[in-house]
Amino acid sequence: MNIVGFIGSPRKDGNTAWLVRQILEGAREAGAETRAWHSGELDIRPCQGCLGCKQGEPGCVIDDDMQALYAALEGADVLVLGSPLYMGQMSAQTKAFTDRLFAQISPRFSPHYTERAAKKALVLAFTQGNPDSGMFQPYYDYTKRVFQML
Ligand SMILES: Cc1cc2nc3c(=O)[nH]c(=O)nc-3n(C[C@H](O)[C@H](O)[C@H](O)COP(=O)(O)O)c2cc1C
Repeated sequence: MNIVGFIGSPRKDGNTAWLVRQILEGAREAGAETRAWHSGELDIRPCQGCLGCKQGEPGCVIDDDMQALYAALEGADVLVLGSPLYMGQMSAQTKAFTDRLFAQISPRFSPHYTERAAKKALVLAFTQGNPDSGMFQPYYDYTKRVFQML
């Protein structure tokens, strides 16, 4: 099993990085191949909405570090999506990353999707400051549903 972890916090050694790394470590011990990607070390520009990914050649036209992530995700079975909660939502870094996934994992709109890309498992690894663990559950559920709709 191949697992990609995305750390969408600007803090390299913060709570989100710790959580994602713990998940990957457990998976590694169980025999998985894992790699963590830290948003702070990546140039991931926001989606331009050109829909170039749905016409002509497959893939996103923006030439930045997302290209390496697309390649990693192509062979991955699982995405561990790590983000701190900022103002009740995922961080801007995580949002830029997830918007760009539209080019790869949105089969309904794409002539280019592969079965493998469509069948990835998603693990949400969100962290929050509020001690009420249920407070943002509706947002976490909603985020899961958005991925299921793609
Ligand atoms: C700009 C900003 C906004 C935040 N908004 C929320 C929030 O709406 N709800 C919450 O519970 N925690 C909020 N927090 C706290 C973080 O989600 C929490 O400390 C998180 O674990 C930080 O992750 P990190 O250590 O990986 O950066 C916020 C923190 C920052 C810096």
